[in-house]
Amino acid sequence: MEKAIIAGTGIYEIPGFDFEQKVIDTPYGAALVNVGRKDGFELAFLARHGLDHSTPPHRVNFRANLKALQMLGVKHVLATYAVGSISREIPPMGLALLTDFLDFTSGRAFTFFDGGKSGLVHTNMDVPYCPALQAKILELAPAFELNVQPQAVYVATNGPRFETPAEIRMYAKLGGDVVGMTGVPEVALARELNMHFAGLAYSINWAAGMEETMEFVSGQMADIRQRMIALMIQTLQEPVVFNCGCESTKMVMVPPEE
Ligand code: HPA
Repeated sequence: MEKAIIAGTGIYEIPGFDFEQKVIDTPYGAALVNVGRKDGFELAFLARHGLDHSTPPHRVNFRANLKALQMLGVKHVLATYAVGSISREIPPMGLALLTDFLDFTSGRAFTFFDGGKSGLVHTNMDVPYCPALQAKILELAPAFELNVQPQAVYVATNGPRFETPAEIRMYAKLGGDVVGMTGVPEVALARELNMHFAGLAYSINWAAGMEETMEFVSGQMADIRQRMIALMIQTLQEPVVFNCGCESTKMVMVPPEE
């Protein structure tokens, strides 16, 4: 199957799909992927934090997750992220397409190319997210009555703690629009595997210090989340012309050994 959704906080099922849970063993550990279909459309669905939301962001096995999807044949991935808002243009309950990121994570396994047998490969990140998938999401969003901001810089923090107000002021100065804990290394690993990958963020709070209190609106977003999932399914089902080049963005210094 070629299409996958990786879902974050708040999304643990996809309505209408009959899923079979599969444990996929990869060289990086096991990944739990739900494999299913609806009206002949096949989809892999991965709940990043586990279906019971028990895996904290810094313990997500991103390499196993992405490798498992590749082993299933996945080439196109849409990922969702619950985020905090730094930009006033993307308030809580707002949606945004990720177009770039700032990486403040540490201690995570962030590459498949670790030297030795895995080779020495530099992966191009000048266009981190797939423009072809992004264009399709933007084209279809109005049909689902969704207003999607077309550009957002994602700040990836390590978590699981939230940020301090001073950190958020710093991220704002650096150009960050939204903040979350799982966007990186996920997108980079997908790119290393030549996947077309787009990220859709939905804000559930103002980031620390932006307002007097950090109030979470996730409980009020069930309807938006459902429409967002429907938008993602439709995007993956529609024909897309992939003239973006996401699948060939590497500088190979020493090729991996088979
Ligand atoms: N910070 C980091 N990650 C998040 C936030 C936040 O404010 N909200 C949702 N995920």
